Amino acid sequence: MFNVILFGPPGSGKGTQSENIIQKYGLIHLSTGDLLRSQIAAHTALGLEAKKLMDKGELVPDEVVIGMIDDSIASFPDAKGFLFDGFPRTVAQAEALDNLLQKYNASVNVLISLQVEEEELVARLLNRGKTSGRSDDSNESVIRDRIKEYHKKTTAVETYYTDLGKAVTVKGQGSVEDIFGLLSAEIDKRK
Ligand code: AP5
Ligand code: MG
Repeated sequence: MFNVILFGPPGSGKGTQSENIIQKYGLIHLSTGDLLRSQIAAHTALGLEAKKLMDKGELVPDEVVIGMIDDSIASFPDAKGFLFDGFPRTVAQAEALDNLLQKYNASVNVLISLQVEEEELVARLLNRGKTSGRSDDSNESVIRDRIKEYHKKTTAVETYYTDLGKAVTVKGQGSVEDIFGLLSAEIDKRK
């Protein structure tokens, strides 16, 4: 298996670039944000609890997202590899992911971190909020809280993989095509 973590703050382009990467490399896209939003849409108890936190820009508990990722990986026994988008977001999640992948004699091959300035993130998300229907895009203060939560809890994940020699950064500003070129080059180096 070849496993990639696409990393970066809210609005850095993880979802946009994930679509391109899974098509080119035949990976399975696992986005914990998308999985949580499907739980909300299905009105499950998990979705209801998660929504309260997501609407405030806070993270949902580690055990909830780790359970979802565990189930998702198990449901694709023939996967060539996974592209993780929005996961792991805490060091506890990163450790859990490494343990889960070990069960399949696999590991994280690379974490690619998209670098985008904060004002560009806010502008992108406010713009998306006009049409996305995502409640966490609807006002600037929640958007800024999501970015704060990222700095408080999530940047440590990049350090964790840097210490393992697996992290690389890529400029996430510019055209979607140019950024995809940079991401592909990093993946190709490691395939
Ligand atoms: P999640 O769904 O993961 O959202 P996020 O990380 O806040 O990021 P976004 O999806 O908003 O941005 P993105 O990086 O995917 O960018 P996109 O490509 O869409 O998480 C939502 C919530 O769920 C969290 O706040 C948390 O509560 C919970 N959650 C999820 N995972 C969790 C976990 N593991 N643990 C705990 N809680 C968790 O692009 C954004 C916009 O910019 C789009 O409009 C796009 O068209 C545009 N754009 C993209 N690229 C470019 C470019 N190059 N130039 C200009 N515009 C661009
Ligand atoms: Mg996304």
